Amino acid sequence: MSDLADLPELLPDRPDAAGLPRHDVADLALAAQGRARIEWADRAMPVLRQIRERFAAERPFDAVRIAACMHVTTESANLMRALAAGGAQVTLCASNPLSTQDDTAAALVAEYGIATFARNGIDRDGYYAHIDAALDAEPHYVFDDGCDLVNILHTERTDVLGGVRGGCEETTTGVIRLRQMAAAGALRFPVVAVNDTDTKHMFDNRYGTGQSTLDAIFRATNTLLAGRTVVVAGYGYCGRGVASRAKGMGAAVIVTEIDPTKALDAAMDGFRVMPMSAAAPLGDVFITVTGNRDVVRREHFVVMRDGAMLANSGHFDIEIDITALAELAVEGPRRVRPSTDEYVLADGRRLLLLAEGRLVNLAAAEGHPAAVMDMSFADQALTAQWLHTAGQELAPGVYDVPTAIDKDVARMKIDTMGIEIDTLTPAQVEYLSSWEHGS
Ligand SMILES: NC(=O)c1ccc[n+]([C@@H]2O[C@H](COP(=O)([O-])OP(=O)(O)OC[C@H]3O[C@@H](n4cnc5c(N)ncnc54)[C@H](O)[C@@H]3O)[C@@H](O)[C@H]2O)c1
Repeated sequence: MSDLADLPELLPDRPDAAGLPRHDVADLALAAQGRARIEWADRAMPVLRQIRERFAAERPFDAVRIAACMHVTTESANLMRALAAGGAQVTLCASNPLSTQDDTAAALVAEYGIATFARNGIDRDGYYAHIDAALDAEPHYVFDDGCDLVNILHTERTDVLGGVRGGCEETTTGVIRLRQMAAAGALRFPVVAVNDTDTKHMFDNRYGTGQSTLDAIFRATNTLLAGRTVVVAGYGYCGRGVASRAKGMGAAVIVTEIDPTKALDAAMDGFRVMPMSAAAPLGDVFITVTGNRDVVRREHFVVMRDGAMLANSGHFDIEIDITALAELAVEGPRRVRPSTDEYVLADGRRLLLLAEGRLVNLAAAEGHPAAVMDMSFADQALTAQWLHTAGQELAPGVYDVPTAIDKDVARMKIDTMGIEIDTLTPAQVEYLSSWEHGS
């Protein structure tokens, strides 16, 4: 663990001379630009805005400290605003070194008074020093996206572990890690798997990742997808979104899977399904969204076409074996465009790695559109409130978000979209709650 004091421009403990909260961000001069972008995102987040307004009136988090380790984007900024409006003392650090929007981080500090530790492109030591700094706030509740903060809390920062009453986890990979911690008896407080709500993974993972992953590939390479072959590794919620969007852009899509049911799902959705070894020589663009490691590796690189593009939208930068790629390359990595590095193999073929193998949609684009994060972060906000009330009785473990919260968020979202739906008639209620009626 590196010492936060090593970071060059870190300002002293809160509040500093200018009255700002504790922070380490790239450039406070970007604050006005960041505020404009946060407010733009807010326009597309009507559900979270309603919750913020209610929190401001009810102040459910007075005297509560929350530490969040999340992608520092305009959308998470609006979640932090909602929690702060509810009275929470919020500290935010980044859950990925390449996803931080420096202007957003600056605005959080200078415009909204929220302690923030995030710089785009920070190295590994700085990344963990920022998590350390967030934990220095001695949080009552923690929000995580990938389980790095919870992991540090249970290993290196056990000094503040006892004060933590509960947490929320945002993504699939984090939930998997938490369940492993719980099974091993290591998890010391209740954590709610916000990822697992319908209003999160059915929309954020699917439509958000689907759109923003392609957005990132276009921004990085300006490539044409029509007529090209796109290989999508993993047909979970994210993979289904990516595959269907790529198909919609005119690509021939191949899916690779390890789960027979998911493979069947992909096949019946009209995609070709095959192992990566068979797909590797066919693909023009490879997109990994598995949450697993070494999905694209040496044996695949050596048979790929000249100019093949490699992008990862899974949580960690281990889905594409970058070490093997670097070992195979006789030249590179050479940055040929922003977020695009070229590796030249011995026979002259060039492979293009996007965003250094990190979450491409956050590193090379802006992450998911605000309209979809509206639901994920509404889930987070309402779950935090529930944890702070009903959740006080929970034993350590991983919990589902109460169904009522999931349904409330869906209801609020369709209301804001002007969508009306039917309600059950009394006869339908009676029918659905009885078992006597047969054919
Ligand atoms: N980019 C983003 O903004 C974003 C958003 C949400 C989730 N995620 C991350 O994306 C990843 C996938 O999330 P999800 O919700 O789709 O998970 P999921 O569990 O629904 O799907 C993952 C799929 O990958 C398959 N898989 C596992 N190993 C494989 C392998 N070696 N080859 C081929 N397929 C394999 C699994 O069988 C499963 O069907 C996770 O790491 C998650 O944290 C990223």
